[in-house]
Parts: sequence; structure tokens; C-alpha cells
Amino acid sequence: VILEWFIVLWISVHHVSARVPVSAAKLKARRQRWNVRASEMSKNTLNPIRAIVDGMKLTPNPEKPMIALSIGDPTVFGNLPTDDSVLQAMKDAIDSHKFNGYAPSVGYLQSREAVANFYSQAGAPLEAKDVILTSGCSQAIELAISALCNPGDNILVPCPGFSLYKTLAVSVGVQVKFYNLLPEKSWEVDLQHLESLIDDRTTCLIVNNPSNPCGSVFTKEHLRNILAVDLRFASRHCIPILADEIYGDMVFPSCEFHSLANLSSDVPILSCGGLAKRWLVPGWRMGWILIHDRNNIFGSEIREALVKLSQRILGACTVVQGALESILNNTQAEFYQSTIGFLKSNSEICFAELSTVPGLNPVMPSGAMYLMVGIEMEHFPEFQNDVDFTERLVTEQSVFCLPATAFEYPNFFRIVVTVPEEMMVEACGRIREFCARHYRPLSQESNDLDQ
Ligand SMILES: *Cc1c(COP(=O)(O)O)cnc(C)c1O
Ligand SMILES: *[C@@H]1O[C@H](CO)[C@@H](O)[C@H](O)[C@H]1NC(C)=O
Ligand SMILES: *[C@@H]1O[C@H](CO)[C@@H](O)[C@H](O)[C@H]1NC(C)=O
Repeated sequence: VILEWFIVLWISVHHVSARVPVSAAKLKARRQRWNVRASEMSKNTLNPIRAIVDGMKLTPNPEKPMIALSIGDPTVFGNLPTDDSVLQAMKDAIDSHKFNGYAPSVGYLQSREAVANFYSQAGAPLEAKDVILTSGCSQAIELAISALCNPGDNILVPCPGFSLYKTLAVSVGVQVKFYNLLPEKSWEVDLQHLESLIDDRTTCLIVNNPSNPCGSVFTKEHLRNILAVDLRFASRHCIPILADEIYGDMVFPSCEFHSLANLSSDVPILSCGGLAKRWLVPGWRMGWILIHDRNNIFGSEIREALVKLSQRILGACTVVQGALESILNNTQAEFYQSTIGFLKSNSEICFAELSTVPGLNPVMPSGAMYLMVGIEMEHFPEFQNDVDFTERLVTEQSVFCLPATAFEYPNFFRIVVTVPEEMMVEACGRIREFCARHYRPLSQESNDLDQ
């Protein structure tokens, strides 16, 4: 009966449209020539690193081989291979023939269970239902922002900070407010500034610890203070936290990593992480969201939102999901320790070298894979800013460091400390030479003006 009804309707619609002449308006609306325009969303998708780097004139000195200290990928020089057990887990997953199909949109139960077991702590217990597997930590961040924010809302983002937060937020109409980190306090959050930015459209606070680009690691006390900022506003603004902990546990032996969730008694936290950095396989695209919500504040609302969004495009590759339990179970402590030992030693070499260069102020990191260097611009009058400075460093010395303008933080540059040691030593020597050539002591006149 229904089918017949459809046929009748179909005939009548066509019958009518065949008889009524095409209106003038419709004729006008008909396209006369090709005019295919890119969407608004694509136009609002901006990668600040590309915008800055592509605008730079990067012509290395032909006499010196290029050294890139700019690439946040620990695999590029081949000096930091992943562990054999990680590769073996992947081979076993392929050979099992069990992981060639579609997985559930949030990931295989067994793989989620493995992540839950690995990250569960006394202060922040996890079960498989609290884990969503994603295509890298990047997709985890995207799902979290998209689940929490509407167009017109705003999120609080660290400055300097990883540029992806802004890229993802702005493309979906979410405004970004930058809270300052303080280099003189080992890049701790300026809590007063953070508080001052909160308004009634603030729907998410992003905390990145350990930090890209700073290499800083927050103390337990400081993390408690960050949570307290949120609590102080608890009656008016209850702001959930997105903790980007992709460098979790990648901290030098002198300090300790504390996940924010383990310290939170009630602020709900989406902790984003993945295999990329700690296991040195960024190309495998395995990430996760850990939902920490002991007081049931997110409730089913946010969990369902995350599940729905995960259904748009399946995230994590199933072969890597198949290897995940074994990767987490069987990677020995020595592997992590040896990576961290290398990062610390390279950071120390770089810091020791650059802290004796007049005009530069490196900040010693405590973890992750980066070191930030302040430029006393008043001593380099030839250059307008960090972009100018790093551009000329390429022209003269064939060393490329990312200007921190890419992280919304001018007059600094970022060094990636995963490069081979001899490359780091050579690069620091060239940076020294460059600075010696361009450094100008402040003139008497400007000294007087300063006083
Ligand atoms: C590298 C990085 C990511 C992205 O990780 P993927 O798993 O490669 O998507 C996220 N956050 C920060 C701070 C990073 O440095
Ligand atoms: C997590 O919290 C528990 C108690 O709530 C504590 O015993 C444990 O040491 C904490 N772990 C870390 C790494 O801070
Ligand atoms: C991982 O460890 C758990 C708990 O020790 C164990 O039950 C499981 O069989 C292990 N899985 C793999 C793949 O090693």
C-alpha cells in the first residue's frame, strides 16, 4: 500500500512539474557557469605553523648542511627507533589475520580495557567504558572540543601552546582565549590571568602537561592550584578540563609526572593521549580519550556525545588496536628510560651551550622533547622579531628553529631535542656564531633611557 502511495505521489509531482512553466526565479537561480567555492569551514581551518613557515624565506647557506631543529617528529633522524617489542606486537597483530575488519567506533573492547588497565590509578580509576580510541591524540582533542563546545563558546588555551587547539576550535566557530605561561616560573600557569579570562561562555580549559613547546612539567602543587581555579568558580562556572597528556610520563628523572585526573576530586577531565611520542610511533595514529568523571558530572550526556562523534569516521587503525594490549604490556621500562635519558642529555647539552650565548635565554625543560629559547631582541636590532631572527639563522648557518610566534609567543624560538647528539652540538655552535655576529650591546643612550 505504501509503495503504491509513493508511486501515486511520484506521478502527481512529475505531472504537476511538467505542466507548470519553470518560474523566472528558478531560471535565474540556475548556474550559468562554473563557480565552485571552498566551504566556510575549510577557509576557517588555519594551521599557524604553516602560515608562518610558508611565509619565511628559508634558503640555507650552501656551505653548511641543513640542520632542522624544528620537526616535532622523533623518528625523522632514525636515532630513536621504537622498541622491538612494539614492532613485534604489530607483526603479531598482522599475522593473526584478526584485525583486518571494522572495529566498533570507540575501539575494540579488549584494546580499551588494556588502556584502562595501563592508566588506572588509585585516585583516578578507569574501566574500558571510560576509554575511546582515536586516530592519534589529535582526533582525541578534536572529539573532546567538539563534544564540549558550541559555536560562540570559548575555550582557554595555554600561551605558548600547541597550535592545533586553536586550529580545531576556530574551524568549528569556537573562540580561543590564551592564558599566559610564565617562563621565569618554569612555564607555570599565570593563574590570575587564567581566572580573569573565564566568562559564561567558557566551556573548556585545556591544560597541556608536559608541555609542547616548553618541555615544562607541572608540580603536584601547581596542578592542584589549576584545579582550584576551577573550583573557586564552582558555583558560577563549572568548567571541564581537557588535559593533553600526550607527553605523560616523558619526564626527566629529577621530577615526577602527575596526571591531572589523579588529583581531581570533582572537576571532570577528558585526558587525551596516545602512542605517538612515548612509544615513538607518531605515524601509527593511535590515540585515546580517558574519561575521568567520578562525580558523574559529564554523565551520559558527554559520553554519548563522544560516542556519536566517534561514529562520523572510524578512528584508530584496527591493526594497531590489535597490537595495543601487547604494546602496553610488554614494552620494558628500559625502553622508556633510555628515551628519557637521551632527551635529558641532549637538553642539557643544548641548555649549557646556549645559556652562555649573550642575548639568548634558554629555559631548561623537565620533560617532553622541546626547549624554548628567549631572544633579547633589543640586542639584535637588525631583526624585527623571532621570525626574522630564525629566518636569517637559516640563511647564514643553515639551522632552522621554529619561531615561537607559531605558538602565539613572540621573541622565543623552539628547539626539538630528539635530533642526534652531534647534530645538536653542531647546531648550538652555529647558533653561537650567529648570535656573536649580530649581538649589539645596548648603547649608553638607550641605557639612560632605560633608567
Ligand atoms: C604531538 C602532539 C599531539 C598529537 O599527537 P598525535 O597522536 O600525533 O595526533 C597532541 N598534543 C601535543 C601537545 C603534541 O605535541
Ligand atoms: C594518585 O592518587 C593516589 C591517591 O588518591 C595516590 O596514592 C597516588 O600516589 C597518586 N599517584 C600519582 C602518580 O600521583
Ligand atoms: C596483558 O597483561 C594482562 C594482565 O597482566 C594479562 O591478563 C594479558 O593476558 C596480557 N596480554 C598480553 C597480550 O600480553
